[in-house]
Amino acid sequence: MKKAIIIGGTSGIGRGLAELLIEHDWTVAITGRRIELLNEIKENAKNNILIQKHDITEINNSDEKMESLFSKLKVVDLVIVSSGVSELNQELNWEIENKLIETNVNGIAKVYEFIFSKFKKQGHGHLVGISSIASLRGNRHAPSYSASKAFQANYLEALRCIAKNEKLAITITDVQPGFIDTPMAKGEGLFWVASVKKASHQIYSAILKKKRKVYITKRWRVIAWGMKIAPSWVLEKI
Ligand SMILES: NC(=O)c1ccc[n+]([C@@H]2O[C@H](COP(=O)([O-])OP(=O)(O)OC[C@H]3O[C@@H](n4cnc5c(N)ncnc54)[C@H](OP(=O)(O)O)[C@@H]3O)[C@@H](O)[C@H]2O)c1
Repeated sequence: MKKAIIIGGTSGIGRGLAELLIEHDWTVAITGRRIELLNEIKENAKNNILIQKHDITEINNSDEKMESLFSKLKVVDLVIVSSGVSELNQELNWEIENKLIETNVNGIAKVYEFIFSKFKKQGHGHLVGISSIASLRGNRHAPSYSASKAFQANYLEALRCIAKNEKLAITITDVQPGFIDTPMAKGEGLFWVASVKKASHQIYSAILKKKRKVYITKRWRVIAWGMKIAPSWVLEKI
């Protein structure tokens, strides 16, 4: 039986993936800050699952929390990192920017670093990060969010380069969703909003195929292409 950890599995995409993995008989460990939601998932799961309260912004405890799961599971095949926050903040309110950077940059980097080191020691593993289509360009509505997602996407790419360069049996997948129907999809004019179920199935399929990068849903590949070639004046107007 394969074993997975979902960092940030209490709601949204992480929870959808956790439920899908449980359905496919994976042994699963789930983390997040909301213990009541972790308990709820555990009670409803058909298999015995592990839960762990873990706030990734508490950098000094972060390794310890993940180590506890790794030592209980012994071997971990897959870690999906779905934790994240988002906020529209064109006003550049510093409290909002700072909280977002603490979570999406510092917290996530610590988690990526720990998992990569564990996989290196273990000899194999698959790390899946959920960045975003927002990683492709700066977004005036959400400056720190778009920048933090670019950080994640580049970090994942760098880890993949290390793995290849050092001939490690570590797979890195960068998942770049467009809009998925969770509390995080904010703002006006949302389009092509996919259900968590559809997104989870497409992500699971990409995991099984060990894809380097995947847009969710698949049609967002077209938007990604447009975003990459769009001149700055177009972005300034959006
Ligand atoms: N929904 C979209 O349209 C969309 C689009 C592109 C990318 N994404 C990315 O997809 C990922 C999942 O988001 P979602 O849409 O599923 O939203 P969500 O339902 O709000 O899920 C966010 C998850 O992150 C966890 N989290 C937040 N802060 C945390 C912290 N300090 N420590 C540990 N866990 C923390 C939350 O758990 P607790 O609150 O229990 O800690 C929750 O499980 C995010 O990285 C997001 O940026 C989403």
